[in-house]
Amino acid sequence: MSEYNTILVEQRGAITLVKLNRPQALNALNREVEKDIRAAFAAYDADPSQRCLVLTGSEKAFAAGADIKEMQPQGFAEMYLPDWFGGWEHVSATRKPWIAAVAGYALGGGCELAMIADIIIAADTAKFGQPEIKLGVTPGIGGSQRLTLAVGKAKAMEMCLTGRMMGAEEAERSGLVAKVVPAADLVEEAMKTAEAIAAMPPVAAIAVKEMVNAAFEMPLAQGLRFERRLFHGLFGTEDQKEGMNAFAEKRPGNWKGR
Ligand code: CAA
Repeated sequence: MSEYNTILVEQRGAITLVKLNRPQALNALNREVEKDIRAAFAAYDADPSQRCLVLTGSEKAFAAGADIKEMQPQGFAEMYLPDWFGGWEHVSATRKPWIAAVAGYALGGGCELAMIADIIIAADTAKFGQPEIKLGVTPGIGGSQRLTLAVGKAKAMEMCLTGRMMGAEEAERSGLVAKVVPAADLVEEAMKTAEAIAAMPPVAAIAVKEMVNAAFEMPLAQGLRFERRLFHGLFGTEDQKEGMNAFAEKRPGNWKGR
């Protein structure tokens, strides 16, 4: 599909595969990339045939950050009035599950974009970091919050204050990534996880995503009640009947998505 300048999008069965495609700038996230990603993710969310999305970059870089050259001449009003980076909240509002498949550099906005994903799968070459302090600024697409939630205060503070990069193995050990795979197998491995998710009943998949994310936003008692109400609600779906009948009949479920 050629409607985008900065990303490549293809559908492989029920999986949408999106590849960042600004090799000349190590996939730096300028405003055009943000616009393209928003549009591709909105199209994915709206397409009932699509059940999971994989976002990846190149071998060298998932994304080396927000585009520094684009930001360099801006002043406070130019950043504040259009709420620069505010558009990424549309990506975090994606309702259906998606996976970031990260090889090479995931720095600044690149690390932040990966952390918006529901699952990060890392190549053994992946390097995560929030080096914005070296530019006289700070994370701006959620890094100070999501990195802290993922790896805890000690490592997040150290990384954001020094700009140190974290390799794939440390990222897995620290809870930032779900698994590490050989770089050559990255997209294939991410596609396998995406296919496993795509094979699940879609209403329950969105409910899982909502309730796990609630753990980051709600106090425990409220989160538990939210989980239970969604769980109760699933008993109003045909897929609950089908899933439990299929279990009793020792066969796979045949999902209706309602
Ligand atoms: N913005 C714009 N251009 C970038 C870029 C970025 N974030 N990262 C790399 N590029 C460009 C380089 O300028 C270079 O372009 P030219 O050939 O025209 O000079 C090209 O991509 C290749 O990069 P390098 O020559 O630097 O490649 P390298 O292998 O020597 O180094 C790197 C790789 C260590 C990742 C280095 O490119 C780098 O440090 N990049 C910047 C990383 C960074 O600071 N990211 C944070 C950005 S700010 C941010 O993201 C704010 C936020 O919170 C959202």
